[in-house]
Amino acid sequence: MDSFLAWENPSVLDCDRMRFYITTAIDYPNGRPHMGHAYEKVITDVYARWNRMLGRETFFLTGTDENGQKLIKAAEEAKEETLSYVDRQVDVFRDLCRSLKISNDDFIRTSEPRHHKVVQWLWKRLDDRGEIYQGDYEGWYCLACENFYTEMQAEDMKCPVHQSPLEKVKEKGYFFRLSKYESWIKEYIAENESFIVPNSARKEMLQRIKSDPIRDLSVSRPNAGWGIPVPGDEKYVVYTWFDALINYYTAVKDKSFWPAQVHVIGKDITWFHTIIWPAMLKAADLEIPEQIYVHGMVLGQDGRKMSKSLGNGVDPLEVIANFPIDSFRYYLLRAIPSGQDGAFVTQDLVMRHNNELANDYGNLLMRVVKLTMKKFGTEITPETVANKLNLDKLGDEMQDAMERREHHRALEKLWEKVNEINLYLNQEEPWKIKDDPGKLKEVLYNALSGIQVVGFYVKAFMPNVSQKTLESLGCPETTQADLVFGKQTFQLSEPEMIFPKIEVASADA
Ligand code: MSP
Repeated sequence: MDSFLAWENPSVLDCDRMRFYITTAIDYPNGRPHMGHAYEKVITDVYARWNRMLGRETFFLTGTDENGQKLIKAAEEAKEETLSYVDRQVDVFRDLCRSLKISNDDFIRTSEPRHHKVVQWLWKRLDDRGEIYQGDYEGWYCLACENFYTEMQAEDMKCPVHQSPLEKVKEKGYFFRLSKYESWIKEYIAENESFIVPNSARKEMLQRIKSDPIRDLSVSRPNAGWGIPVPGDEKYVVYTWFDALINYYTAVKDKSFWPAQVHVIGKDITWFHTIIWPAMLKAADLEIPEQIYVHGMVLGQDGRKMSKSLGNGVDPLEVIANFPIDSFRYYLLRAIPSGQDGAFVTQDLVMRHNNELANDYGNLLMRVVKLTMKKFGTEITPETVANKLNLDKLGDEMQDAMERREHHRALEKLWEKVNEINLYLNQEEPWKIKDDPGKLKEVLYNALSGIQVVGFYVKAFMPNVSQKTLESLGCPETTQADLVFGKQTFQLSEPEMIFPKIEVASADA
């Protein structure tokens, strides 16, 4: 376990690597939060929690993207003043974070003065360097994407994502010299394999640059009384994507946290994060983020992208009301392979909850603690017991998977160990051992040690379960250094049922 432990020892590493700044994309709050929002927050939370466990100084940011034109439209439809509409909506996103046990250190809103200040500062910095110029823009705009499309990208002048008609835009405005950075970014992506993960997303971006040359970017919109005014020319506001990306820089008060280690995003917004954002930073002479981790899309049960119009959406707030949070987190992290699309199927969630969580994990904890208490009372010491389970490599194996951004593999590794402990018990049958107290103690102590190990490593994925597991073993403050076999004396208390079985019918209710 030395390599896992090494992260906790600053002398082994330079200080920069001890910092871990991770972000989600910031959500448009013009509707209820959907499954994609929940998914992205849970994934990012796992990496943040895991890196905290490694001893890294972690800063985890999430928030809302509020300056777009679609917020004006949504407020108009709700017959409300824009700011009060947005305030109300943002509360629902904050609640989602709380309910999902998201451990974000900050929640940024792009309507906040701190953000306006930084955007205007960066705009001026780019302007001073000659990276912004005035010109005439002619193109096609999709309000839902808040994105411009060229005629080549949009067949029949319909949005390639939403299939809705595009709005023809012809206006004077400001441009960012994005095209100037084409060969630099192409080379950077080609040479830095871990800049965009998974590799499929990296290849897709390289392919796209090859087939569709990078053009300068229109970065202003007419000022309709909402958004961030262009410094020195208040007829315009800053184009919402240009402002939204800057949130990642705004939020780090202590700029020694910059650059971010990972921006976690969905695959529909890879271009903005891997081409536009690095070019903006390069042009401003600021460091670029270390990695963009692109997750797949949560699909409906029918295998199509979840959408209101298809009626195949599952509301995360309803799932939270019907299932333990940790089961929901486990399902999202295990059932959808990292970097790929995957369907959310409520029946699958019920199955995994009942089999992998209630049977394999919950019953294991319950039967071992109960049997040990019956045979030895509340305390069991390590004297005279030999190590029978092989759990030493688990932390490193999980760490390898997490570094590759393959959290589903890390969970698989963890569950292999849960199954090994179950197998060990089924082979040794401690409930049948009658007149060999030494052997009985060895088997139960080994099982309890195994449960402590999995209870510790599961913390990033299922924080409630981890806490309840370690509490029932009497070692709630377990650290990685405590996992050396034979170190722990367990003080047992009967655990509450952590995964009550769910009837298939009641899950549909
Ligand atoms: N506001 C922009 C992001 C700006 S970041 C500087 C935006 N907002 S969004 O609300 O539309 O999406 C927020 C995140 O959710 C994005 O990373 C997006 O890819 C992700 N998802 C949206 N739908 C999704 C699924 N169905 N499945 C998984 N993630 C999805 O884009």
